[in-house]
Amino acid sequence: MYVCLCNAFTDRDVNRAIDAGAHTVGQVYKRLDAVPQCGKCKDTIREMLTDR
Ligand code: FES
Repeated sequence: MYVCLCNAFTDRDVNRAIDAGAHTVGQVYKRLDAVPQCGKCKDTIREMLTDR
């Protein structure tokens, strides 16, 4: 499922970034070579980080 429509990355991409060591929303974006745009995905990414 898409987490970020602006950058077209999925929950699998986010989990891959977390597995690779991302601990913050900003680090997830960085590892995915993405730049926050509308910001709607931030809460979802934050939840994915805290669920790990
Ligand atoms: Fe991620 Fe817009 S949905 S920045």
